[in-house]
Amino acid sequence: MQTKILCADDKQVVSAAAELLVNGELVAIPTETVYGLSADGLNPEAVAKIFKAKGRPQDNPLILHIADARDMEKFCHSIPESAWTLAETFWPGPLTMVLPAKDIVPKCTTAGLPTVAVRCPDCEITREIIRKAGVPVAAPSANLSGKPSTTTAEHVYHDHNGKIPLIVDGGPCRVGVESTILDLTDEKPRLLRPGGITLEAMAQIVGEIVIDKAVTGSIDKDTVVKAPGMKYRHYAPECSVIIVDGSTEAAARYIGKHFSPNNRVLCFEEELQAFSDFAPLSYGKEADTDTLLAGLFAALRELDDPSIGTVFARCPAGSGKAMAVQNRLLKAAGFHRVNAELFVLGITGGTGCGKTTLLKAFEAIGGVVMDCDAIYHQLLKTDTVLLGAIENRFPGCVEDGTLNRKKLGLIVFSDPAALADLNAITHGAVKAEVLRRLDLATAPVAIDAIGLFEGGLAALCDVTVAVTAPLDDRIARLTIRDNITPEQAKLRIHAQKPESWFRENCDYILENNGTASNFQEKCFAFFDKLSIIKEKA
Ligand code: TXA
Ligand code: MG
Repeated sequence: MQTKILCADDKQVVSAAAELLVNGELVAIPTETVYGLSADGLNPEAVAKIFKAKGRPQDNPLILHIADARDMEKFCHSIPESAWTLAETFWPGPLTMVLPAKDIVPKCTTAGLPTVAVRCPDCEITREIIRKAGVPVAAPSANLSGKPSTTTAEHVYHDHNGKIPLIVDGGPCRVGVESTILDLTDEKPRLLRPGGITLEAMAQIVGEIVIDKAVTGSIDKDTVVKAPGMKYRHYAPECSVIIVDGSTEAAARYIGKHFSPNNRVLCFEEELQAFSDFAPLSYGKEADTDTLLAGLFAALRELDDPSIGTVFARCPAGSGKAMAVQNRLLKAAGFHRVNAELFVLGITGGTGCGKTTLLKAFEAIGGVVMDCDAIYHQLLKTDTVLLGAIENRFPGCVEDGTLNRKKLGLIVFSDPAALADLNAITHGAVKAEVLRRLDLATAPVAIDAIGLFEGGLAALCDVTVAVTAPLDDRIARLTIRDNITPEQAKLRIHAQKPESWFRENCDYILENNGTASNFQEKCFAFFDKLSIIKEKA
C-alpha cells in the first residue's frame, strides 16, 4: 500500500480523509498532543486495523475523538455535571474524560470495558475531518506500540509507511505529550495519565483528584488497572534509560562514573555545557516546561538507535505540567531512577588494619555499609547466573547448586590465569549487585572491599580511603582474631597488596597507629572533613 501525505492546508484533505474513514480505512491525524492513528470508532473491523497496525495489546482501549462537546451524550451516559464544566473549560484541548459508555460504542473500542474515553482535540483540521466523516474516530497515539509517541508526520511515516493509506500533516504537535486522562466514573475523580491540562487546573473545578498509582509507580503485567495502557513499558527507546536526579554537577559526576562510549545523555538545554563530554541531547528548557513536553518524544525517538547502550536522562522536578514529563520519562526508564547526590565512599585496606572501626563510625553517622565480601557470599547462594558462569569455567566446582570452595580454591591458588578468570566472573557479579543496591540507597554509602580497585568498584565512589596499620599491630590483631600463629598472619599479610599500593591509589589514608579510641576519633574527624557526609547523614 502506498502511504500518501497530505498537508492540512490541502483543499482535498478533509474529504479524502473522511472518505477513507467512512470506508473503514486508517488515517493518521494531527492533534495538539500527538499524532493519532484513527479509524471509525463505531466500526469494529476498522478499529481492529488500528490494533494490528500498532501491534497494540487487545486489552488496551482506545480514545474516542469527537468534534463537539455535546456529542459526548451520543456515546456516554450518566454524565456528571463536572464533565460538562470540564469540557466547557478545557475543550477543545488535551483532556480525555473516562465516562460510562453507551451500547453504541463497540467493545473493541473500549476493550470490553463498560466505560469509554472521550476527547475533543484542539486541532481544527481534525475536527473538520471528524465532522465530515460523521463518526467519532478512535485514535491511539500513532507510534508502534511501546515506542515513543509521534509528534510529527515524519514520525508517523517512519512507523507506518506502506501500512496505512493517508497521513494528514499538520506540522509538529503543539503540546507534544498525550492528553491528560481523568476518570469520572468513580466516587472521586481519578487522574489516570498526566498531560497538558494540569491536576491543579482540574482540581479547581472537580475538587480533590485521586492520582492513580500507575501514574507514578510501576504496575505488574497481570494487575487490573484503571487505564490498561499505563501498565505497559511505554515511550521507550530500545536502549535502557536511567533517570539521574540531583544537581547538574552531581549528575555530571555520577554520569562520568558510569559512562561508556555508546551512552548518551538526555538533558535540559541549560545543561548542554555541563554534559558536553557525554554526547548530550537537549529536549527543551528546564525553565520552560512547555518546551520539555514539546521536545520529549522527538528526542526519545532520536535516541531509539540500536547503537546506543544507555541513556542517562534528566527529569524536571515539581508539579503542574512537569508531572507529564516525569510520567513519560519514568515509563521510558521502566522506573529506573537514581540519586546522583548520593555520597559513595570506597573503603579498603589490608587484612588486620582495623577497617571495621572506620565502617562502624560510618554507620554511626547514618551511613550504610555495603560489605562486598558478604555480598559475594550472598550471591553464591542466590545468583544462579553467577554459579552457572563459575561452573562453566571450572567444571565440577558447583555441586547441586552449591559452590565447592575447597575444590575451586585448589585450582585458582596454584594458577594465576585461573584466578584472573574467577575474579573477572565474581567482580562483575558483585559490581552489578552493588549498582543495584546503590540505586535503592537513600543514605550515604560506604563500599567495603579489599579489591575495591580490582573489582571496578572504586569508579563508583566519590572518595576512596584505605586504612593502614603498622605490621606488628596487624600481626597481633590477626593472631587473636583468627586464632592463627604470627607466621601464618605474616603470610596472609604478604599475600596482599603492600601499603605503598594503597597510598598510591586511594584519595586518603587513615593510619591506625595509636589506641583503639584514638583511631575511632580519627575516623569521625575524617568524616567531618568530608563535610558532604555530615550534611547528608
Ligand atoms: O492525546 C491523546 O490522548 C492521543 C491523541 C491521539 O488524541 N491519544 C492517545 O491514545 O494517547 P493512546 O491510545 O496512546 O492512549 C490512550 C490511553 C491508554 O492508556 C488507554 O488504556 C486509556 O487511554 N484508556 C482508553 N480508554 C479507557 C477507558 N475506558 N478507561 C480507562 N482508560 C482508558
Ligand atoms: Mg500511546
